[in-house]
Amino acid sequence: MHATYTVVILAGLGLCAAGQNQLLTPFVNLFIGTETGANGGSGGNAFPGAAIPHAMAKVGIDVDITPRQAGYISLDGSITGISLLHDEGTGGNTAGGYGNFPLSPVTNCNFTLCPVAIDDRKSARVPGTDAAQPGYFTSSLNNGAKIEATSTRRAGLIRFTYQNWTNNLNHVVVDLTNDLQRSFQGGSLQFDPSSKRVKLGGTYLQSYGPSNYTVFGCYDFQQPLTAFGTWNGTTIKPNATSLNFPYPTTGVQAGLILSFTVDNNRSILARFGVSFLSSDQACSNAESEIPTWDWNAVQSSSASKWEDVLNRIQIDTAKENSTIVELLYSSLYRSALVPANLTGENPYWDNTHPFFDALFCSWDTFRTVHPLLSLLSPVEWGGIVSAYVDGWRHTGYIPECRSNTKDGYVQGGSDGMPILGDFAVKYGKNAAQLGVDPADLWQALVDTAENTPPNWYTRLSILTVGRQNTAWKLFGYIPTDYNDPLSTGLETREASRSLEYALGDFAVRQAGIALGKSSETAAIYANRSMNFVNLFDPNVTSDGFTGFMQRKFPNGTFAFSDPVDCSPLDTVGHSCARGTDNNVGFYESSSWEYSFFAPQSMATIIELMGGNDTFINRVNHYFDAGYFLAGNEPGFEMPWAYHYANRPDLSARRVRDVVFTNFNTGIGGLPGNDDSGAMASLLVFHILGLYPVPSSTQLLIGSPLLSSYTLSNDFFRTHTRVTVNGFDPTGVVAQPANSSRVYVQSVMINGVEAASRCWIDFNDLVGASNEIEIQVTNVLGDALGCGDGPNALPDSLATGGFKF
Ligand SMILES: *[C@@H]1O[C@H](CO)[C@@H](O)[C@H](O)[C@H]1NC(C)=O
Ligand SMILES: *[C@@H]1O[C@H](CO)[C@@H](O)[C@H](O)[C@H]1NC(C)=O
Ligand SMILES: *[C@@H]1O[C@H](CO)[C@@H](O)[C@H](O)[C@H]1NC(C)=O
Ligand SMILES: *[C@@H]1O[C@H](CO)[C@@H](O)[C@H](O)[C@H]1NC(C)=O
Ligand SMILES: *[C@@H]1O[C@H](CO)[C@@H](O)[C@H](O)[C@H]1NC(C)=O
Ligand SMILES: *[C@@H]1O[C@H](CO)[C@@H](O)[C@H](O)[C@H]1NC(C)=O
Ligand SMILES: *[C@@H]1O[C@H](CO)[C@@H](O)[C@H](O)[C@H]1NC(C)=O
Ligand SMILES: *[C@@H]1O[C@H](CO)[C@@H](O)[C@H](O)[C@H]1NC(C)=O
Ligand SMILES: *[C@@H]1O[C@H](CO)[C@@H](O)[C@H](O)[C@H]1NC(C)=O
Ligand SMILES: *[C@@H]1O[C@H](CO)[C@@H](O)[C@H](O)[C@H]1NC(C)=O
Ligand SMILES: *[C@@H]1O[C@H](CO)[C@@H](O)[C@H](O)[C@H]1NC(C)=O
Ligand SMILES: *[C@@H]1O[C@H](CO)[C@@H](O)[C@H](O)[C@H]1NC(C)=O
Repeated sequence: MHATYTVVILAGLGLCAAGQNQLLTPFVNLFIGTETGANGGSGGNAFPGAAIPHAMAKVGIDVDITPRQAGYISLDGSITGISLLHDEGTGGNTAGGYGNFPLSPVTNCNFTLCPVAIDDRKSARVPGTDAAQPGYFTSSLNNGAKIEATSTRRAGLIRFTYQNWTNNLNHVVVDLTNDLQRSFQGGSLQFDPSSKRVKLGGTYLQSYGPSNYTVFGCYDFQQPLTAFGTWNGTTIKPNATSLNFPYPTTGVQAGLILSFTVDNNRSILARFGVSFLSSDQACSNAESEIPTWDWNAVQSSSASKWEDVLNRIQIDTAKENSTIVELLYSSLYRSALVPANLTGENPYWDNTHPFFDALFCSWDTFRTVHPLLSLLSPVEWGGIVSAYVDGWRHTGYIPECRSNTKDGYVQGGSDGMPILGDFAVKYGKNAAQLGVDPADLWQALVDTAENTPPNWYTRLSILTVGRQNTAWKLFGYIPTDYNDPLSTGLETREASRSLEYALGDFAVRQAGIALGKSSETAAIYANRSMNFVNLFDPNVTSDGFTGFMQRKFPNGTFAFSDPVDCSPLDTVGHSCARGTDNNVGFYESSSWEYSFFAPQSMATIIELMGGNDTFINRVNHYFDAGYFLAGNEPGFEMPWAYHYANRPDLSARRVRDVVFTNFNTGIGGLPGNDDSGAMASLLVFHILGLYPVPSSTQLLIGSPLLSSYTLSNDFFRTHTRVTVNGFDPTGVVAQPANSSRVYVQSVMINGVEAASRCWIDFNDLVGASNEIEIQVTNVLGDALGCGDGPNALPDSLATGGFKF
């Protein structure tokens, strides 16, 4: 490894750092969030295998126990093989998603008697041998085989090194059928002994949605072949070269077994390619991306792509707190694993536009994953946003939860809307340069906001997913106990969906202004975005606080459910998911939590709840009583909520408490599923002392957990240095002492004091040669607040905010 990396060029656009880039991959801990069942059921489901940023190929080992959403679990379980595709941090089916075409090294058996079925061939790990760095993964099995992997976007290399080599007693099993879910529905395998090439294709179930998908693989092997055969069940058929299971097939296990001779290295090297188009395409992906089988070239190319991503936040790694350094770069790493870049691999329509998978789900990612891309990586983000727009082009609606290439279930609103709105306000003027057609971006938003698909919730025989807009426009909320004549779909989550639809309409309002639409058009969506007030029932009381969001019947009467329902304090055990047994009206969250959810007009929420003091008491109670669940997205903004009541000092304390109580560098270091990098990107923002307001150029600002950092933007090629004057290392704890300087006293932008201590404009974080200085103090209390001017508080629609 080199000591330093100089300028790295990505996709033709130079990220010209002011100085030399630092070597940052050594600070990435890939095992954070890989514990089984930690933190109330989820260890994080993080994927620690080999991958480039936004890779399609994510190659890693899989365990035989569940839950195993990303295939991997630290410490527990035996290894069933190393497979080629994975998700990152998702929920969904507990057996996992993807995990296709595993290879397993088997040892110490005569060819025809080897264990081939998945539970026969699996092996435990040698404790302490799992190791990983960006672009590389290794693990050693008790059966004497060491596994290593490295990869490119659609291809990779896998190496097995056998501790003891005896000719004819060491083999490789290729598995056609066992994905993580064991959901094989049909497919085929062909082996050509002369070229040592294996072509595979199979159909499997997606992990969060009603559909199946078809994927293809290709393996080539480097060492001389000595024996081969297919297997079916537990039976090996020597010299057989093909298998074919027509769709639909269930309950089979089958594949290939291969033997080689090796040199003194005792290693077998396999090259793979993957594709969603054909096995020939999978082979050609392998040939074009790894033409020379050069392991070091592949691994160092992957590492340098990661250096490029990680160097978009530069810090003095020797000076800052080492725990924060590790959390920052590990989180930045996981923030860029998905969405997965399937460009050129779209099996459903033409391939001229970018295609991305693992939009899993936008409900999880709109809050922090996409805003982090907007800050650092708009060139990459442009491709991702273009793929969202292209989804609309071919289905009529913005995709919400694409997983395994197919539409997944809709969780809440249509939360691709705030993603597109965010792009419009930040890069609307540069959209075409970033590959996004602004007219199509706008039409995608309008169609998703106006049209009603026949089934808003899931794509099965009917074509697409979206929102229940007929009801939304008719009532100004999604009514409970209402059969929409125009749109079927589970009639659940009415209350939280209404709140999310309101935010979705705010996204359209914002995009409309950014893209130069008429003020009348913007006003229509501004008006609809205030509909969240329709669900605020002033008569409901809980724990002494009055006024909560509730479901409503079509006749306007509220349908009561206890605000505690579906919170961590719910003793009844309601179903709070998407099914018809959810009779509470909120998705994966409570009325206690969702009653705060209107980032487009928090001033309205404060007024409805009875003013600033009551609001502050209520936010305190929400945390202190235990309604907050750090690992779930609806609570992401809550530690920052005090900003809206003019008390950024309280946010500074709460953010620290939330970070250090819930995140650490251990395998159980995440409070919930990483959710496609949602948790990771949230932690990056907390560390930077920023929180993005959806579909707006405002970010709430607080005191960072670093003394200084420089943000680089891959489109504007700007470098913005943020310095904390008076930075206090004693404030980098859950409960800073009263003497700790953790409160923002002033924000200076290029030497000029900013109008607010509570928010900063996006353009000031990506502008040319910006210097941001944050002065911190130890004065707790309301003396400072957000500032004295008329624009000191963060914007709210109701108080005239979000002007352009
Ligand atoms: C493999 O077969 C040979 C010859 O039959 C036998 O001597 C040997 O014990 C077998 N090895 C194993 C590991 O089964
Ligand atoms: C490898 O061989 C050594 C020496 O014979 C032996 O001690 C060890 O157990 C063997 N390892 C495996 C995995 O068979
Ligand atoms: C499953 O795959 C088969 C074969 O590709 C296809 O015909 C069928 O429509 C798929 N079913 C679903 C529910 O996706
Ligand atoms: C695999 O084995 C099953 C069960 O013995 C059998 O029904 C099936 O025909 C076999 N399929 C192939 C392709 O060999
Ligand atoms: C497989 O092919 C090899 C090489 O032609 C031959 O030696 C061997 O006997 C064959 N095995 C069987 C079971 O047909
Ligand atoms: C064996 O290992 C050496 C040293 O790591 C390496 O240079 C050589 O290329 C390897 N040979 C093969 C065939 O992999
Ligand atoms: C996606 O892949 C395409 C084709 O290789 C490439 O041009 C583009 O830069 C990639 N985008 C990301 C975000 O990885
Ligand atoms: C939205 O428009 C309706 C109909 O014109 C009006 O009654 C309502 O007061 C408006 N709401 C807001 C928040 O402006
Ligand atoms: C709240 O309760 C009062 C008194 O019972 C009643 O008059 C009023 O209509 C209720 N408001 C709502 C929104 O249900
Ligand atoms: C509204 O509808 C609900 C549910 O059908 C019913 O319980 C309630 O009494 C109705 N309210 C009025 C004012 O009619
Ligand atoms: C909350 O405090 C801010 C700042 O002092 C003030 O502008 C706002 O009017 C207050 N809100 C309410 C509802 O009293
Ligand atoms: C860094 O911060 C962590 C978390 O508060 C703390 O435990 C640790 O002592 C700090 N390290 C140093 C070197 O100050």
